[in-house]
Amino acid sequence: MKPSRRLPLLLFFTSSLGPIAGACDKTNPDDFHPPVRADAGPDTGIDGGEVGPDEVTFPEGFRWGSSTSAFQTETGNAQTDWGKWVTMQGKIKDAATPDKGGPDALNHIDDDIRALKDSGQNAYRFSMEWARLYPTLADLNAGRANAAAVTKYTELLDKLRAANIHPLVTLQHFSLPSYVSDPTKPAEPQGWERPETKDLFAKYCGLVAGLFKNKVDEWITINEPVVVALNGYVAGAAPPGGLLETTRAFAVARAEARAHALAYEAIHREDNADADGDGKPALVSIAQNMETFHPKVDGDAADIQGAKHIEYIWNWWFVNAIVKGDWDDDFDEKYEGPNDKRADPSLLNHVDWLGINYYTDILVSTHDGIQIPGVGASIVPQPLPTNRHKTDFAWDIHPEGLRAVLVQANTYGLPITVTENGIADASDANRARFITEHLYQAGWAIQNGVQLRGYYYWSLMDNFEWDSGYCPKFGLYSIGDGGARTQRGSVAAYRSIIEAKKVRRDATASLRAYQPPTICN
Ligand code: FCB
Repeated sequence: MKPSRRLPLLLFFTSSLGPIAGACDKTNPDDFHPPVRADAGPDTGIDGGEVGPDEVTFPEGFRWGSSTSAFQTETGNAQTDWGKWVTMQGKIKDAATPDKGGPDALNHIDDDIRALKDSGQNAYRFSMEWARLYPTLADLNAGRANAAAVTKYTELLDKLRAANIHPLVTLQHFSLPSYVSDPTKPAEPQGWERPETKDLFAKYCGLVAGLFKNKVDEWITINEPVVVALNGYVAGAAPPGGLLETTRAFAVARAEARAHALAYEAIHREDNADADGDGKPALVSIAQNMETFHPKVDGDAADIQGAKHIEYIWNWWFVNAIVKGDWDDDFDEKYEGPNDKRADPSLLNHVDWLGINYYTDILVSTHDGIQIPGVGASIVPQPLPTNRHKTDFAWDIHPEGLRAVLVQANTYGLPITVTENGIADASDANRARFITEHLYQAGWAIQNGVQLRGYYYWSLMDNFEWDSGYCPKFGLYSIGDGGARTQRGSVAAYRSIIEAKKVRRDATASLRAYQPPTICN
């Protein structure tokens, strides 16, 4: 089985959530560790063995949606780092490209709106492609957006509005323009490693906020900034393909945090129009990948510490920086003097809500596997040696982990949206159960006091899954010849939860037990 993107050989460090509010220097890392749950045991049903409420309910106004990204669903984004990456030998499974066999979303806008409507959704998260809107550096510097790109995104936004579907727009989802990041020139610093990238990004975000301020109120600057750093510089799975280069990965995550803060300010400066009449012109966040981390060996002190360290780097470092202005320069959570760990007011409160992408569990080992330099732990490749059910992508299915992550993230005191959660499931045998179980946990989190405002399933339709090409099928809709969208049977389960605004504890009784996955290979 092929180890899947994002977790192939990674590993990480220590610690976690600090005090709820306020930036400060911390001297005792144990003060702000959330407990690491050492429970990678068998799946025990909708409530994971801990008896949950008979029924969980979702509030009026809850956003029920699905997510996509530009590079994964559009054609014609060759002038990006990922556009070049997909042409490089051996980078992508079956040499797949978004230009062939994908959803071609900008030429199927009506189909996608119909798909959203037919499945009962009231919200859609998609991303705009920076290089499509500003194809050259000269265009960006002159603030000259490409007219055809503006026309397409305007059409999409206008049709969403006409269909009463709330738009959530991501400004950067993995791909960067070639003039910012070019993986064919590895000798030069690329992407977030270039000092000017953060300013160019903020400029781009401000321009786009100005262009679409009358149509969009909710923005995500960067999708999964820490995953970008790790995949690009530790796992070798994304441009520029660095392997085990922890120092560079940290530099990239730091640059993304600064870029986000500048973009946050630029968006708030430019988007002063309240598009949906709720009194708030712009609400800005990131989409942070958050998973649950466990020691490979239960009860092993070194593995527990390794899991805490990696959880801290992966889930919390970036959010601590932009929410609490808590700058931990070397990502170890320890205080080694004010140059290492300090309050940074230029980052404090630079987020209005929290977007969380949750998928699975991660196991950490300090005894075997490829130890990540500077971290001293490895990430166990999937499929994990656990009894949990697996997706086609070989990821463990762990619905109660969603609640655990939400409850922890809620201590930041911000509204939260699940901006991605989904299953690769080509046979569609398991998707209805997956969605039902995760929504039960999400509803239970609300009952526990979590300020959860929305849930976006990944993805609306099958699409180009980065280095794995078209093998993993995450879609509520499959893509046929000519881009035809076909609704999968599991959509009925999502739609009926949306209509009922609740999930009963016995909801899965009528659903099939998990079937073995049809693993991508
Ligand atoms: C997330 C990415 C998204 C998609 C899903 C499966 O990490 O944000 O683009 O690839 O994983």
